Amino acid sequence: MNSFFADNKLYIATDSLDWVMNKAISQSLSLSTAMPLNTHNDHVPEKPIETLYIHIPFCHTLCRFCSFHKVKFNHDLAMQYFQSLKQEITHVLQQGYRFNRVYIGGGTTTILEDELIKLIEQIKSTTHIREVSCESDPIYFAEGNPQRLVGLVDRMSIGVQSFNDQVLKNTGRYEKFGSAAQQAEYILQANQLFPTVNMDLMYGFKNQTIDDVAYDIEIAKSINPAQITTYPLTLGIGKNRKKAGVLAGNPHQLWPLFQQVKSSLADHYHQEYPWTFSRIQQATDNKYVLDGEDCFGVGSGAFGRFGNQFRISSFNIEQYIELINRHNSGTTHYKMIDDKALMQHQLMIMMGHGYLNNHAFKQHTGKSLWQAFPLELSFLISIGALTKQGQDYRTTEHGEFVALKMFTGFLSGMDWLREQAREINSDQYAITL
Ligand SMILES: C[S@@+](CC[C@H](N)C(=O)[O-])C[C@H]1O[C@@H](n2cnc3c(N)ncnc32)[C@H](O)[C@@H]1O
Ligand code: SF4
Repeated sequence: MNSFFADNKLYIATDSLDWVMNKAISQSLSLSTAMPLNTHNDHVPEKPIETLYIHIPFCHTLCRFCSFHKVKFNHDLAMQYFQSLKQEITHVLQQGYRFNRVYIGGGTTTILEDELIKLIEQIKSTTHIREVSCESDPIYFAEGNPQRLVGLVDRMSIGVQSFNDQVLKNTGRYEKFGSAAQQAEYILQANQLFPTVNMDLMYGFKNQTIDDVAYDIEIAKSINPAQITTYPLTLGIGKNRKKAGVLAGNPHQLWPLFQQVKSSLADHYHQEYPWTFSRIQQATDNKYVLDGEDCFGVGSGAFGRFGNQFRISSFNIEQYIELINRHNSGTTHYKMIDDKALMQHQLMIMMGHGYLNNHAFKQHTGKSLWQAFPLELSFLISIGALTKQGQDYRTTEHGEFVALKMFTGFLSGMDWLREQAREINSDQYAITL
C-alpha cells in the first residue's frame, strides 16, 4: 500500500484506539467501587513478590507536564515522611513479605540523600534484594554526592526530557536543573558511577520537528547511557490534560517522530519495547516497574497489585504519616480488576515486545490468543498492526506504534487513578483515622 494511505489508515486507527481506550480506562479504572482495605488479615505469600515500590512525593520544582504524586519540597515534612516510610517497611518485612527488587520512584528520591541512604541500608541489612532502582532529577548530580549511593543503587534513572533549552524552559525545568549542556555533563558523571543508568526523554512537544528529535537522540547517544526510555508527552484524561496539553504538538506528528527515534537509536540501541531501548550488549535484567508483575507499594502515592487486586495508598502525606504513627498500614483502599483488563495489559506488553506466542500464551492463561482477544486481534490485523506467522503473530512497525499508543493510554489511566486517589483519601481522611 502507498505510504500516504497506509499512514492515514494508521492515524484513523490510532485516533479510534485513543477514544476506545479513554472509555475503557474511565470504566475499568474507576475508583468509585474501591473499598477500604484491612491489611491485618493479609495472607503473606510464600514466594517473594517481584517488586517493592517505594514512593517519595517531594520535588524541588513542579514540572508543567507531570501528574505524578508530589508536592514542593518541605524539609520538616520530608524528614517526618522518611521516618514513617522506614517504620512501614520494617512492619512489612516483619509480616514476612519478601521482594526480589526495590524500585524507589517519585517525585525525587534523592531529595534527602542521608535519609535515602539509611532507607536502602535498612532494607539491605534485613532482607536479600537483587536490585535497587532509583529515580532522580539531573541537578542531584551537581548538587548532591551521588558517589555515596555507589554500591547501594544498581539502576539510576534520570529525567532529562529534552536537550533543547526552549523545551526545558517551557516545561519549567531549565531554571532548577540547568541548561541542556549542563544536564548532559551531569549525566555523563552519573554514567561513570552506576552499573545501569537510564535516561528519560520525551517527544511530541509543540513545534518539535523530526530534526529536533534526531538532535535529542544524538546527544543522548553521545552520553551513552545503558538505557533510554522515551515516549510521547502523555496528557492524561483528567484535570492534568489541560495543563500538559498546552505543551503538546499535533498527535498526528507522533508517528514520524517515533520513526525518527527508532532509526536514530538503531545503530547502538536494541528496542526492548517501543518505549524502552537498551544499549546493545547490555545485560537487560534492569527494567522499568510497569512490566506487569506483582508489586507491593509503600509510602504516600504508591500503588500495588497482586493478581486481580489493585491497592492504593493514602495520597495525603500528612494522613499517611498519621496512619503510620497509629500503627496502621499506609495502604487504605483496594479495587478488584477484571481478568479482561489484565489480559489487555498483557496484550500491550506482548505487542510492544514484537511477538505474540500462541503456545506460551495458552500455557500461561489456558486460552488461545483468538479465544482471549477475538475483537482485538481482528482490529489489529485489519489495520496492519499484526501479521500472522504460523500459529503466532508478529508486530509490524505500525503495530509498534499502536503498542506505544496503548502504553501512553495505560499511563493516562495511571494519571486518572492518581487523580481519583487524591479525592478518595481526602474524603475519607476523617473516617480512616
Ligand atoms: C515522575 S519522573 C521522576 C524523575 C525525576 N523527578 C525527574 O523529573 O527527573 C519520571 C519520568 O516520568 C516521565 N513523565 C512524567 N510526566 C510525564 C508525562 N506527562 N508524559 C510523559 N512522561 C512523563 C518523565 O520522563 C520523567 O522523567
Ligand atoms: S517530572 Fe520529576 S521533577 Fe518534575 S514534577 Fe515530576 S517528579 Fe518532580
